[in-house]
Amino acid sequence: MLLCTQLLRCVLSVHYLCLTRNMSSSPPRLQGCMSAWIIDQYGSNGVLKYTEETTVPTISSATEVMIKVHAVSLNPLDVAMRGGYGAKLLKLRRDPLSVMDNDTEFPLILGRDLSGVVVDCGSGVTHFALGDEVWAAVPPWKQGSLAEYVTLTEYEVSHKPKVLSHIEAASIPYVANTSLSALVNGGGLCRDSSSNKRVLITGGSGGVGTFAIQLLKAWGAHVTVTCSQNAVGLVRGLGADEVLDYTAGDVVEQLEMMEKFDVVFDGVGGDTEEWAMGLLKPWSGAKYVTLVTPLLLNTDSMGLLDGTLNAGFSLQSKAIQNLLSSGVFYRWGFYAPDGPALDEVSKLVDAGKILPVVEAQFSFTQVPQAFQKLEKGHARGKTVVRLIKIRQKQICSMEIQLKKFGVT
Ligand SMILES: NC(=O)c1ccc[n+]([C@@H]2O[C@H](COP(=O)([O-])OP(=O)(O)OC[C@H]3O[C@@H](n4cnc5c(N)ncnc54)[C@H](OP(=O)(O)O)[C@@H]3O)[C@@H](O)[C@H]2O)c1
Repeated sequence: MLLCTQLLRCVLSVHYLCLTRNMSSSPPRLQGCMSAWIIDQYGSNGVLKYTEETTVPTISSATEVMIKVHAVSLNPLDVAMRGGYGAKLLKLRRDPLSVMDNDTEFPLILGRDLSGVVVDCGSGVTHFALGDEVWAAVPPWKQGSLAEYVTLTEYEVSHKPKVLSHIEAASIPYVANTSLSALVNGGGLCRDSSSNKRVLITGGSGGVGTFAIQLLKAWGAHVTVTCSQNAVGLVRGLGADEVLDYTAGDVVEQLEMMEKFDVVFDGVGGDTEEWAMGLLKPWSGAKYVTLVTPLLLNTDSMGLLDGTLNAGFSLQSKAIQNLLSSGVFYRWGFYAPDGPALDEVSKLVDAGKILPVVEAQFSFTQVPQAFQKLEKGHARGKTVVRLIKIRQKQICSMEIQLKKFGVT
């Protein structure tokens, strides 16, 4: 078995080495097994398993591209999904016919972000060619990126920024797709409408916050951020105009003394919405958008129908109540797959307006340690897992960059 796996690896890597951009659009299809981290039950870190016998996800439709993964970053969602978060709704999205069957989602591969190289394209793919360097955020209802290969539709994929290494690039797609979807669809902001807007970001030092600060500054907004004392240097370095240390005293009191906001982008949840609504400009279209929603928790605990209805009712009643009492909008923000949105982010990265914030790196053999790091919380940017070897020079340049922000 070991010999077979090694032979297959040899064939795959020779094939991969032969690939160049715009070579034949119909190469021999990659088949066989690949290495991946899988789970075959929900639970704590012990359920993560390394295997070299996961089936390679071959192209199954004309618009799909297959990507050799070079680096992956983790998100709080990966830790939550490892424990079964969202299992019912995600199962329905994967395969509506199997929703009543047990365990059909296993073996499940976690990991949402990736940066890598296109190694195969469906016959209808127009935007990518073999050898293209790409980045993507894998939807949670698809097999994840903690694997040698991932197959996605071309709509979900984008060309990676030229100035970033794969490790740096892997830190951005999921938080970028989430921030863009929430800020544009929920917050009503965009490149051309943000220059006179005041935005408050709670949880500014994590993956979403460190990206959203830079995006909003690139769009010209005035950005206020809450974070812990030891992240103040980081978020200021990323461009935040006002930074409040929520550990130093009553942050709500300080925020109430400031000019009111057009948008509150909440990455913390809990009781934040109780005080944040009062910080918005009344009767002027101001919006509160939270990423911390009860939808998946509700469907897990109450079942699909009751959970969805309960979440919908809660959203509607809060939205109506806030609109009627002070003319502010209450909204939930969600990740949405969107390759074209990543194309726009890529341009901002290449223009030096958005920097990757990689706090910690792990090798592919250390995936359980990467999950442990994430579970401890207090993120300062992103945790990345590398599937390819990295040059020492690249590690140094990232460490220097983080030190500039005061992260040690
Ligand atoms: N709805 C969706 O589709 C979606 C998509 C992406 C993310 N999310 C959710 O959005 C949240 C943020 O995601 P993320 O990836 O940025 O998480 P993250 O990387 O873990 O960052 C969270 C950050 O919040 C800080 N923090 C904790 N409590 C705080 C408080 N009271 N005030 C200010 N900062 C606080 C943490 O640092 P300290 O504890 O050291 O302060 C950490 O830096 C998570 O709950 C995530 O699950 C939802």
